[in-house]
Amino acid sequence: MSVHSLDTSTPAARPSVSLPRLREAAARGEKLTMLTCYDATFTRVLEDAGVEILLVGDSLGNVIQGQTSTLPVTLEHMAYHTACVARARRSAWLVADMPFGSYESSPAHALDSAVALMRAGAQMVKLEGGGVTVETVRFLTERGIPVCAHLGLTPQRVHALGGFRIQGRDDAAAAILRADAAALAEAGAAMLVLELVPSTLARQITEAHPQMMTIGIGAGAGTTGQVLVLHDMLGLTSGKRPRFVRDFTREPGSDAGASGLSVAQAVQRYVADVKALRFPDEAVHGY
Ligand code: KIV
Repeated sequence: MSVHSLDTSTPAARPSVSLPRLREAAARGEKLTMLTCYDATFTRVLEDAGVEILLVGDSLGNVIQGQTSTLPVTLEHMAYHTACVARARRSAWLVADMPFGSYESSPAHALDSAVALMRAGAQMVKLEGGGVTVETVRFLTERGIPVCAHLGLTPQRVHALGGFRIQGRDDAAAAILRADAAALAEAGAAMLVLELVPSTLARQITEAHPQMMTIGIGAGAGTTGQVLVLHDMLGLTSGKRPRFVRDFTREPGSDAGASGLSVAQAVQRYVADVKALRFPDEAVHGY
């Protein structure tokens, strides 16, 4: 079964993915698929391949703008790319990142920023962090804005965290992550991205809060779904590839010189491998 399993094959003919449909699929034990997406062309490719959730991530700072972090990304940038994706979207669930500086000062400021992204076509907004962010999540959800929270490695806090490192490794850090996840679930977050945390911890958080769908990236196989940055899983990102990423344009085990799969085939393989529990492989991609 799939979120799309009762549907005919073209995205236009499918009923739109909704939170209830995602929850039903998760309750059946089906793994959910999310990829980042920043433009209309890839929206069509990803939907055709069956990706259920599109994330207009502020990673566009890195992969589209050539920045070294997500910090320079503005609300205007996010609204522009969200509108590009929304125009092409036919059935997938559309999540947009709240960028650095657009939600931290007050819940009311966060609401204004979320409204701008929803007006651009987002169906859910994502914001990073626990602690003081919890009350903002409550403020937004009470006003009818679906929220995806984000814990673990939160790239907007990269300088405070001391770099792109695994989070929640020792008992004290794991306890804080568990407490933040519980508070975010209680505040109404419908989804939670868990980035770069040990598999066991991600699995515990997932099992403790069945009402909050967890989407892992570098968090093992125990989350409700998986997400990768599109350019990473297509093998387009320069530099050292993080351990949790697989280049889906390559047949497993093939050498770098072997001819690759097309973009559409690679995305189809990502969807198939997440659904069939072939990705992530905790021995290779986990911590
Ligand atoms: O911006 C982004 O791409 C993200 C994912 C890494 C989850 O937040």
